[in-house]
Amino acid sequence: MRTPLIAGNWKMNGSAALIESFGKTFASAALPANIDVVVIPPFPYLDAARHAFSNTPLQLGAQTLNPHHSGAHTGEVSGSMLKEFGVAYVLVGHSERRQLYRESDEQVFDRLLAALDTGLTPILCVGETLEERDAGRTMDVVLRQVGYIMARLAPEQRLQIVIAYEPVWAIGTGRTATPEQAQEVMAGIRAYQAGFDASLAEQLKLLYGGSMNASNAAELLAQPDIDGGLVGGASLKTDDFYAICQSAG
Ligand code: 13P
Repeated sequence: MRTPLIAGNWKMNGSAALIESFGKTFASAALPANIDVVVIPPFPYLDAARHAFSNTPLQLGAQTLNPHHSGAHTGEVSGSMLKEFGVAYVLVGHSERRQLYRESDEQVFDRLLAALDTGLTPILCVGETLEERDAGRTMDVVLRQVGYIMARLAPEQRLQIVIAYEPVWAIGTGRTATPEQAQEVMAGIRAYQAGFDASLAEQLKLLYGGSMNASNAAELLAQPDIDGGLVGGASLKTDDFYAICQSAG
């Protein structure tokens, strides 16, 4: 049985007040048993969040990491630094990083490997653009992104990653993939993993991301191959994010 995981990616948003509000709400939260909830704020908020969340079930994630452990990389943050400050998860390959900062599959792989090397759980983000979907290339694009990484990992490393399917056209647009559209792609990702190892496919945690909110989360999370959500905009409202966590039980 795969434990549901709900992750809130604040992107370049948030505030000290939002951290405090999450800390208060989730300290008294009656979350469903057996779910993992991760908050992914910008770097400067991580330490404050760690303290504010110490009496809550919330875990911490980071939005990216540099592949190097230390050195002359001005402006960058390493996996070991994140680990030292209580971070458990890290996003790699988010479509905004791929598009706005030109991250290639190779760079995504290097970051993912650095995450594994430092004991962080990478959440590998994949997804097609609207143009690619309209051209009927969704599965090709998604499986190329997944396959590039999987082919380069050792069998035991493949078991340590989470994959988030985030169709680019659904991110921040209010245009959610239908549960059927999301399920179709995510079943395809799982079937692809079965080509490596049937038990890997069974254990692999798959998240859906793209305009998930308190109203559509339950229906998405009810799909057999959707094990959780990667939530953007709705994770900036404490009550909405809390409601999404409730629907993962
Ligand atoms: P939205 O939920 O705002 O569409 O963002 C999704 C996302 O990119 C999470 O990583």
